Amino acid sequence: MSTNDSIITARGIKRGFQSGGDTFWALGGIDLDIPRGGLTILRGRSGSGKTTLMNILGALDRPTEGTVILDGVDITAASESERDAVRRKKIGFIFQSVALVSMMSAYENVEFGMRISGFPAAGRRERAEECLHLVGLSSRIKHMPQELSGGEQQRVAIARAIAHRPAVLFADEPTAELDTLTGLSVIKTFRELVEREGVTIVMTTHDVGLMDAADVVYELSDGMLVDAAAGAGEGGVQA
Ligand SMILES: Nc1ncnc2c1ncn2[C@@H]1O[C@H](COP(=O)(O)OP(=O)(O)OP(=O)(O)O)[C@@H](O)[C@H]1O
Ligand SMILES: [Mg+2]
Repeated sequence: MSTNDSIITARGIKRGFQSGGDTFWALGGIDLDIPRGGLTILRGRSGSGKTTLMNILGALDRPTEGTVILDGVDITAASESERDAVRRKKIGFIFQSVALVSMMSAYENVEFGMRISGFPAAGRRERAEECLHLVGLSSRIKHMPQELSGGEQQRVAIARAIAHRPAVLFADEPTAELDTLTGLSVIKTFRELVEREGVTIVMTTHDVGLMDAADVVYELSDGMLVDAAAGAGEGGVQA
């Protein structure tokens, strides 16, 4: 992994919210670089601005000030339709609460996501099965969400988020609703995706036990970056 090769470059990111005539600055001026093909963790206590920052990096929200370049595209200057195309083609999202379609099997959930992103029909079945295999669910592909454990459902969500081969996978507290061991297995899956598929992963977490898995850790406090254990090491979770 070359540290000079950033897939995301953010400069001067501020995000203000209006409340009763005043502006509350959830982000107070953030500069950061996300290495291509690495696992980056955004950490910080509740309310520090992690979700706000991630939503801006992932083109779900616009900053009040500042610039984000994602894989060569200035997503802060882009029109809504350009941003929509970036989100569909280049980005995958995983949220804290798993949002699978309850009437669809594990396989159908993954395949449905690929259809939305415009993945060619011809390769869909093979790729969906490959991704479910990658997350360790080959034996569960016909199961409905309610027939899966919480950790298994989260892994279907991961398979769905990577199936269209996004450049960046954003995961907001993906382990928050999981027990420690299941959370570790999700992180281990993330490491495998980084190594095998070359995907860039950006995730938020409170869990200090997961930091060793990251290539880079950024710590937020009151909407500002503080010096953190950047470059926590070459990863490798012993789970
Ligand atoms: N739409 C909004 N309007 C007003 N204030 C907001 C809005 N969204 C977030 N905030 C405020 O911005 C701050 C940062 O919120 P954010 O959700 O980014 O925190 P977080 O680090 O993700 O916290 P958590 O760990 O609890 O998820 C909080 O103080 C929050 O109340
Ligand atoms: Mg949050």
